[in-house]
Amino acid sequence: MKTLTLTQPDDWHLHLRDGALLSRSVNDSARQFKRALIMPNLCPPITTIAAAEAYRQRILAALVPGNDFDPLMTLYLTDTMTVETIQQAAAHPQIIAAKLYPAHATTNSAAGVSDIKHIYPLLEAMQTHGLTLCIHGEVTHGDIFDREKAFIDSTLTRLCQDFPRLRMVLEHITTQDAVDFVCAQGPQLAASITPQHLLFHRNQLLAGGIKPHFYCLPVLKRQCHQHALLKAASSGNAKFFLGSDSAPHSLDAKQSACGCAGTYSAYSALEFYAQAFASIDALDKLEAFASFHGADFYRLPRNQGQTTLVEKPWQLPEILPFGDTEVVPLAAGEPLTWQLAAKA
Ligand code: NCD
Ligand code: ZN
Repeated sequence: MKTLTLTQPDDWHLHLRDGALLSRSVNDSARQFKRALIMPNLCPPITTIAAAEAYRQRILAALVPGNDFDPLMTLYLTDTMTVETIQQAAAHPQIIAAKLYPAHATTNSAAGVSDIKHIYPLLEAMQTHGLTLCIHGEVTHGDIFDREKAFIDSTLTRLCQDFPRLRMVLEHITTQDAVDFVCAQGPQLAASITPQHLLFHRNQLLAGGIKPHFYCLPVLKRQCHQHALLKAASSGNAKFFLGSDSAPHSLDAKQSACGCAGTYSAYSALEFYAQAFASIDALDKLEAFASFHGADFYRLPRNQGQTTLVEKPWQLPEILPFGDTEVVPLAAGEPLTWQLAAKA
């Protein structure tokens, strides 16, 4: 049996939710990753240091014995956040970023930023104090397939000019345009890439019937963009790293006349990435993408432990029990080739 041993990987973009959903989501992630950057789009959002600390404690309390996991926190930027909050976050050992959600761009983003100019003083403070800006890079109008490119053209280009020393991550990139833009900027701009955007393209969402469990934002794009992302992730370029964007939504919320955006990959996130890298014969590039580039960008030590994957075909479950509800995982029921050794 073929095996692949990596330095323990981290997930630099993760939604864990709270309450009933949290206990399963955090333990699924902890079996795959040592650390994760936890997204703050709860209801209400995480906008204060105290809320981030309390949420971190709830996450740690939900871990089952044997799961060793270090959640790192983000703040949710709003039009009314103060510079003092940014200063405190920058000095906090477990808060390593603040997230820009353009208002109404995605799930739980209604309290997000209504005009980028409103947060220029916050961005100035983040640049000065070294707090990373994580960006949901989509505009909220125009053709949904073009919203990432429109954000780059209308907003990100300007941000890079106005804040040349601000460290930024363009999250869950989905297009060749994003790859090209990130490559063309200096080392202060990096990007995370999800498993769904590496493994799938928009036909999986829309051809032969609407498949709501493939609906996430930014939406899956054309296959040429999927190929551009595979190339970027496996290029060895340190600007690209793993961020799963795993986001649990109940089956009912997804299978609806107005199904919500987000896909749950945490159950097998690393295994999905292995599948994607294997598909282009680039498994030798997985460790740098999954275990080195993100930690290096966030100026954190690389993990000491190791994770082993074995080549052993298995099938994803159709459904996952989730507290008092159920979640359909990404690619439910589909075969995967690589499997965590601990699971096998
Ligand atoms: C995420 C969620 O459900 O919180 N949904 C998604 O489609 N990716 C939010 C986000 O990261 O956009
Ligand atoms: Zn996300």
